[in-house]
Parts: sequence; C-alpha cells; structure tokens
Amino acid sequence: MDSQKNYKNFWNEKAATPDSAFIAVDGSTNEETARLTGHYSARQVVAALELKPTDRVLELGCGVGRIGREIAPLVAHWHGTDISANMIEVARERLRNHANVGFTELTRSSLQPLADASFDKAYCVAVFIHMDKEDFFLYLEEIARVLKPGGLIYFDVWNMASPVGWRRCALEINQHRIADHSRRKDVARNQFSSPEEVRIFLDHAGFDLTLLLAESPWVQAIGVRRGGHVDVEALRRQAAEQTARIAYSPLWTELFDGILDVVIGRISPELMWQSLGDDSRGEEVPMFREWFLGMWKGNETAWGPAPR
Ligand SMILES: C[S@@+](CC[C@H](N)C(=O)[O-])C[C@H]1O[C@@H](n2cnc3c(N)ncnc32)[C@H](O)[C@@H]1O
Repeated sequence: MDSQKNYKNFWNEKAATPDSAFIAVDGSTNEETARLTGHYSARQVVAALELKPTDRVLELGCGVGRIGREIAPLVAHWHGTDISANMIEVARERLRNHANVGFTELTRSSLQPLADASFDKAYCVAVFIHMDKEDFFLYLEEIARVLKPGGLIYFDVWNMASPVGWRRCALEINQHRIADHSRRKDVARNQFSSPEEVRIFLDHAGFDLTLLLAESPWVQAIGVRRGGHVDVEALRRQAAEQTARIAYSPLWTELFDGILDVVIGRISPELMWQSLGDDSRGEEVPMFREWFLGMWKGNETAWGPAPR
C-alpha cells in the first residue's frame, strides 16, 4: 500500500477527516482533550525555549495545531510546517483567529522554502519518532539552517533507555516477530532512540546541547544553534532551572506504564479506569482519562463496553 511507503500519503490518510486527524496527533478524540493535552505540551515548550513575545517560532510537524494553538498567542510569529496538507488544513481552521501565524506544507525532509536564519526558536514534539533516522538528522540540519545563530531547538523522541520506554519499544518489536518480512515496514512506524543518539545527532547538526532529560519514556533535548554570541553555560543553567516544567512527570510515566499493562493484558481496563479516578493526583489524570477512554472506545471488541 502506498501509505506505508510514503510519509505524505500515510499522514494524509490518517488526517482524512478532522476527527481522524485529532486521533492521529496524540490520541485526542475531541477538541476539549486536544486543548488539555496541548496545554501540557505547550507548557513544556514554553519553558524549554523560554519563549518571549518577540520570538519568531517554528514548529516542525504541527499536526492539527494542538500545541501551536496554545503558543501562537504568546509570540510574535508562529509558523507551522507539516508533511500532510490535511493536517495543515485542520490546523489552519483551528488558528484562523490568529493573525500572526503561517503554514508551509513540506514535500521532503527539508524546510525549503523557509529562509536561512529566519527563526529565533524551533520545536518538534512526537514527530521524529515517526521517521527514519536519516530524515530525523536531515530535519535537524534544516532546523539549524533556518534558526538564527544562538537560536534554540526543543524536541522529544521515544527513549529506549528508560524502563518504561523500553517496554513501549518491546511492544513494537513484538509486532515484528511474526511479520511477513517480504514486505517493508510501515514508513511512519514508531522508532526508538537513546540519549546518546540524540547527543550525537545534535552535535553533528550544529547544535550545542543545553539540556537532556531521559528519566521518562521520552528523551527531551534542548540545543542552541552554534555561531551566536551566547553564553552556552548560562543557557545550560537556565534550562536546568526549568527542568520541572519541561520534564514528563513521574505520574505521567506511571500512567503511561499502566496503559501498557492494559495493552499487553497484564491488568484489566477496569482497573486502569479506577486508577484514573482521582484528579487530585495531578493534571496528568484527566488527560490520561480522556486518552484511555478514546483507546477503550476503539477497542471495545477486546475490552468490553467503555465506561461512558
Ligand atoms: C503524532 S503527530 C504530532 C503532531 C504535533 N506535533 C503534536 O504533538 O500535536 C505527527 C505529525 O508529524 C507529521 N509528520 C510525520 N512525518 C513527517 C515528516 N517526514 N515531515 C514532516 N512532518 C511529518 C504528521 O503529519 C503529523 O502531523
């Protein structure tokens, strides 16, 4: 099938309708959930990039504008890029009331036609996990090109070096144990990284690393584009001070681990649902409740009727 060979076809098919586009970006089944999860991710981005009202900000793989919707009001210009025209169409509609936004549909692992040194900051969330390593690196080089010297990048990738990240990775590997090896693997399947890989890629793409977080199932990295007159050590100190606002929390990791338990049949969906009943534990609880409910509704044949 074409969609398994080509990023554009794959993501355009995933985003064939606005509803399916929301599900494809992060499992959100409606606008309300996308706002909830978008707020969580945007807080991480704001803290990682220390966003200012004067910043011109680029997002690679903006999807439906889940994060961009929250970031645009805070900065001078927000620019969403994506391989999928269908995703961009949904994002454009969601951000139609903002005059300071722009969009570029990408055709390959390049940010042409965006100009060199035209952005102060760039971010990319849950996108590099869906592409081959060559494309991950090519995009990092392109982000270095469009950032001003001294500009900041923030991104995340799956972290196979964390215990829960490895469980997620193993789930993926297990799907291939009995796969038909005469067929190529789906081009946008989940790919897994390590903190060391991220260090190497950032360095070779022209960035100095200022923060690397790897306690959760995600590696989260901040880098500064080389060549600017910036004090890298001061940036490292500032980034470290923001760690609590940037990192996926231990509760996030615990709840994600619980979902993996349900997926592999170790605990029942009912038990997981019960564990999502106490909002006082943290903002992650309502977010995971909505995600899990969406998963359950898509899995009723195996899990039985969803609770609502
Ligand atoms: C899982 S979604 C995440 C969307 C958004 N970053 C968010 O967190 O809500 C992945 C997004 O990356 C885009 N994407 C996937 N592969 C891409 C590629 N090779 N180049 C550019 N965008 C890509 C998809 O179209 C999709 O919108």
